[in-house]
Amino acid sequence: MTENHETIDALQWEKRTFVPSEAFKKNSLVVGTHLYDEANVDYESFWARQASELVAWQKPWDTVCEWELPFSKWFVGGQLNVSYNCLDRHVLAGKGDKVAIHFEGEPGDTRAVTYAQLLDEVQKFANVLKGLGVQKGDRVNIYLPMIVEAAVAMLACARIGAAHSVVFGGFSSQALADRINDAEAKVLITADGGYRRGEVFPLKPQADEAVENTSTITSVVVVQRGNNPVEMKAGRDHWYHELMATADADCPAEPMDSEQLLFLLYTSGTTGKPKGIMHTTGGYLTHVTYTHKYVFDLNPEKDIYWCTADVGWITGHSYIVYGPLSNGATQVMYEGAPNFPGNDRMWQIIEKYKVTIFYTAPTAIRTFMKWGVEEPAKHDLSSLRLLGSVGEPINPEAWMWYHENIGGGNCPIVDTWWQTETGGIMISPLPGATTTKPGSATFPLPGIGAELLDDEGKHVEHGGGYLTLTHPWPGMLRGIWKDPERFKEAYWSRFEGSYFAGDGAKLDDDGYLWLLGRVDDVMNVSGHRISTTEVESALVSHPSVAEAAVVGANDATTGQAIIAYVTLVGGMEVDEQVLRNHVAGEIGAIAKPKTIYFTPELPKTRSGKIMRRLLRDVAEGRNLGDTTTLADASVVNELQKRASEAPSED
Ligand code: PRX
Repeated sequence: MTENHETIDALQWEKRTFVPSEAFKKNSLVVGTHLYDEANVDYESFWARQASELVAWQKPWDTVCEWELPFSKWFVGGQLNVSYNCLDRHVLAGKGDKVAIHFEGEPGDTRAVTYAQLLDEVQKFANVLKGLGVQKGDRVNIYLPMIVEAAVAMLACARIGAAHSVVFGGFSSQALADRINDAEAKVLITADGGYRRGEVFPLKPQADEAVENTSTITSVVVVQRGNNPVEMKAGRDHWYHELMATADADCPAEPMDSEQLLFLLYTSGTTGKPKGIMHTTGGYLTHVTYTHKYVFDLNPEKDIYWCTADVGWITGHSYIVYGPLSNGATQVMYEGAPNFPGNDRMWQIIEKYKVTIFYTAPTAIRTFMKWGVEEPAKHDLSSLRLLGSVGEPINPEAWMWYHENIGGGNCPIVDTWWQTETGGIMISPLPGATTTKPGSATFPLPGIGAELLDDEGKHVEHGGGYLTLTHPWPGMLRGIWKDPERFKEAYWSRFEGSYFAGDGAKLDDDGYLWLLGRVDDVMNVSGHRISTTEVESALVSHPSVAEAAVVGANDATTGQAIIAYVTLVGGMEVDEQVLRNHVAGEIGAIAKPKTIYFTPELPKTRSGKIMRRLLRDVAEGRNLGDTTTLADASVVNELQKRASEAPSED
């Protein structure tokens, strides 16, 4: 792992430490080490205690964990219903009038949805789905903006035992079609459009195009949100509000087996084909309920929680829908862009709802930094008591800026490391118990085992290594949809008996973990995972492109930026912008390369392997070391020259 070691050496050791204040500790759920101590004795019993205390079971489990490496099953024999846990049990406990979701639409429209109302809507929509022929075990695709109906749709699926597959609204019709086809989904739930930066972005036309390329969708349900004109195909397409108007109000939550598939969520791996990550019921719910409660030190009676993720990503699944609702929290859900109508929209929302816990991504924080301290300074942010970060390594400057300008210097920051595959948070401080260091995710949570390994798979005590997870945890992925071999190969083949996360990390003298980013061909752009191969495949699918190599280069705002090197088919010419838009059409706007360099040839070793590391060095303007293995060194000299001259697109 030479590259990673370089990063490690280049990193300054951050010396500042932040101890939880006495004021914070006074009301905090965990202030000592007792959870760690308990979990260290026996992690299975620890998780069993969490499962019985935090989750309501309709039938108790027989076995806590069945572990046949690399497949785990949790709370085997137990039965429960996720939507019952997120809704009914709170209503039955007399909290029906409590607000579950304060919805804030981008244009400024609002909606406060209580637990009783949410339960009502979920039951009706579950009946709608049944009426459309959805049965237990079926898959339902969801392609929606950030609106309450997204949560309703997910919970309605969970209520009847259908697995949802949510596709981020920014993905293209092609990406949606691929995911529908892989999941063989029966029903698609979408909207006419949603709001983004003052405009309506249409979703229905994309959904229509996707459905054209699929054979399994029998019905499309359309939520009216953007009020943009759409075509409705008779017999196939139905308006959400029309179906809901006549739906039966009662849909009892049926018990599901603990290992019933709850959802699929597609994520990028190191090949061009996204992986359908499988999450099941009992273990996942236990993991997200536990982490949402303890990492965010949740007091459901007092806190107003806000996670800025989109439901299309795992963070939206675990920390907007399932974790917070299972804990009976009150949260804010915001539909739109952070800079509409002004650069202070986020801070205005915090002030308006008196948000106490705010969870966002480093890219967003760095963007807020660019917009200036005067934006948060316009608002009273004194309601905040805890801040969170997720999605990519947070650099110490961004951490300090967040701490001082958003947290007013007195909110602990929880830097939470986890993945789509882990289901829930794995490495994070516990805010009342952990002394934090800016830029470090600190320690594995109680119940989680992590270890750094070197190239040979030996334990690393200090310094850099590969991050691995040493034993099963309840929220872990159960596999890749329809591809158990890829599951073994992708996560379990690098180090015998351990899950390899794809990240590099280092351990400092005090045993703190510092995440260093991906060490594989996965890029992290604004906290979104995109594989280099996926973008390369999109590029070469354009008729003018003969060959493409894509690398993630460091970027001050987005963490990494997508840089593409393209060789055109002889005699053809194409504009850079055309190719960027082509990639957006194939995958989605998030995958657009920032810069495309055209080159008559890609730098290759004599055996024909593209030298990506070298291309990354070129993109990041580094001096190139030894290029003697190259088949043709002049290719690189030319690229270097162009990289130093080229303006980059936004
Ligand atoms: O590289 C790590 C980075 O995001 C990857 C997981 O991406 P995804 O499955 O899309 O989930 C993102 C939200 C959980 C990881 O392999 N990552 C996530 N959180 C952090 C992080 N890197 C450093 N620090 C974090 N807190």
